[in-house]
Amino acid sequence: MPCTQKVTDDIVWVGGSDRRLALFENVFPLPDGISYNAYVILDEKTALMDTADAAIAERFLTNVEGALAGRKLDYLVVNHMEPDHCAMIGEIVRRYPEIKLVGNTKTFRFMEQFFDFPLQDRCITVKEGDTLTLGRHLLHFVMAPMVHWPEVMMSYDSTDKILFSADAFGTFGAFHGPIFADQINFQVRYVDEARRYYTNIVGKYGPQVQAVLKKATGLDIAILCPLHGPIWRKDLGWILDKYDKWSRYEPEEKGVVIAYGSMYGNTEAAAEELANLLAQKGVTALRLYDVSKTDSSYLISDLFRFSNFVLAAPTYNNGVYLPMNALLHDIAALNLQNRQYSLISNGSWAPISGKKMDEALNKLKGMQQVGETVQFRSSLKAEQLPQLKALAQAICDSLK
Ligand code: FEO
Repeated sequence: MPCTQKVTDDIVWVGGSDRRLALFENVFPLPDGISYNAYVILDEKTALMDTADAAIAERFLTNVEGALAGRKLDYLVVNHMEPDHCAMIGEIVRRYPEIKLVGNTKTFRFMEQFFDFPLQDRCITVKEGDTLTLGRHLLHFVMAPMVHWPEVMMSYDSTDKILFSADAFGTFGAFHGPIFADQINFQVRYVDEARRYYTNIVGKYGPQVQAVLKKATGLDIAILCPLHGPIWRKDLGWILDKYDKWSRYEPEEKGVVIAYGSMYGNTEAAAEELANLLAQKGVTALRLYDVSKTDSSYLISDLFRFSNFVLAAPTYNNGVYLPMNALLHDIAALNLQNRQYSLISNGSWAPISGKKMDEALNKLKGMQQVGETVQFRSSLKAEQLPQLKALAQAICDSLK
């Protein structure tokens, strides 16, 4: 039985949610699952906007069939070729053999790499500014390279002012019934997962997101239809503003993330003491995380959110404690910039983690150290408390 919802009178959402998948891309934890969106436009010609992940194959195919209600499918517009959206292309072509596939040059290169069915005579290759008329609806194609793969494009329906935005404006998290952001208090319920999705999946490509946002400002958009998560038809400015901040690597708010690595609790104790000192000085926007316990995707998300962070780690193999090293790698890979950082370094015989962490962060754009690195051997002693207090004061001053 189809399980669809109307987006407008002649556009039907035909997606679904996967609550069983543990890790998105086999990397990122999904405590509340994920949704895959696809849309059928019913006009003089019919068009399917992207497909779905193989995990929801049966539901997706039933939904497409239900939305078409016996009509044939004329076009499949492929905005993104990552398998969480393209996995069902082969099956769609098998079921609707007369279908035309709409994509750009890179789309079809990837399609040949992923699939074995013959492409000749099926493909309509489009480029920036090209259009496709379905009857009443007119689709304009907007290239969006690296948001999040090089072939990504968006489709803008100028008739109803709808932007099919591919991965952009998506989020982790399954649907719980409603599919519109204005029905579910997105700003409270989904914002953290939307940020975690953006920063970890697209975070590296801020300049490319900025380029697409500039194109979007030239469009009159009433509805945003992403490939994951709720559809936006109200307060579009809110999510556009978040994307603008995230892609400019500008913090959303002043606050401090303390991420510590600790083998036996001594570095943890110093991190806890710093959090305590900051709290006593009135800092309430504080997050304290154990890098061995909290998945790095959550840390990255908060590092994008807040203005300051503190890394505290022991020395290990004459370098930085391994889970902290992994976080440093992710910080660099995802292009985090323009933050104020502070360091706490531990080591029992040859402490060097502070120097190594500083070297790693110094290479990144717009990073500024706040306070002196607090360096101790094995455990923080009472006589070193003034150093930690001085660091807390420096962080407080930097938040003003
Ligand atoms: Fe949701 Fe880049 O795929």
